[in-house]
Amino acid sequence: QIIHIEAPATVANMVCGFDILGFAVKAPYDEMNIRFRDEPGILIVNEDEYNLPTDPEKNVAGAALLAMMQELDPATGFELRIRKHIKPGSGVGSSAASSAGAVVAANRLLGNRFSREDLVRFAMNGEKVASGVKHADNIAPCIYGGITLIRSIHPLDIITITPPPLHVTIVHPQIEVRTADARSILKKQVQLKDAIRQWGNIGGLVAGLLKQDYELISRSLEDVLIEPVRSILIPGFDEVKRRSKAAGALGGGISGSGPSVFMLSKDEPTAQLVAEEMKAIYRSLGLDHHVYMTTI
Ligand code: HSE
Repeated sequence: QIIHIEAPATVANMVCGFDILGFAVKAPYDEMNIRFRDEPGILIVNEDEYNLPTDPEKNVAGAALLAMMQELDPATGFELRIRKHIKPGSGVGSSAASSAGAVVAANRLLGNRFSREDLVRFAMNGEKVASGVKHADNIAPCIYGGITLIRSIHPLDIITITPPPLHVTIVHPQIEVRTADARSILKKQVQLKDAIRQWGNIGGLVAGLLKQDYELISRSLEDVLIEPVRSILIPGFDEVKRRSKAAGALGGGISGSGPSVFMLSKDEPTAQLVAEEMKAIYRSLGLDHHVYMTTI
């Protein structure tokens, strides 16, 4: 038996929700095939051009599977074939798609023995390999779909939010921003007045999504804690935001730890205008980039 799955790209942080709010998009997605093998252990075969490690301890999908295998018969063996379409390091949850995809696929092969929470727990080990930190704001939406709020990681408490229609335009400027670096520059302490503004926005955003109130969503898409620090790593960031909003976008920000930047729009024509603005900005900066449009 071979199980085939598609693991979607995800946008972590969702502007004000650093480490706690993320969403899955319809495309791009990675493809994976998994089957049992006769010998114990994990065999990883990469079927793409990215030359990612095949040693299960160094491969994020392998690390996630190893965590799962600690709760399985030691004689279990998997052969995992990975075809990535989500570019590693682009900031749209490439490592999460690998880790989450691997354990979701293995779980199907095992007759759904584990809960979705278990799968998030296993997959976070992949994120640890990728960035040194176990965060779930890419993993959870990748496994649950839609928008997820990670109220707590210890213990895991994941809430799914079904949003109104939202179109997503993402620009990936071809520069490298490592998640570990983008985390190390963050301030460890915040001002109370900034914290108040941030949790006002998070509450507003969640309420706006549940009430399908685009105005409230738009007003709440503001990050006063992380974005001011991280955005300096991304050329053109302020202009992308300003011109996208002028074109009608509801708002947006850094996708995960960057370098991709995403904007949300109510309808497709607006998302298309946003895409044109993004392309114009990076063309004028002379920076290679890739723009894609999708939905939540
Ligand atoms: N929440 C994580 C961070 C996401 O911003 O560091 C990384 O993709």
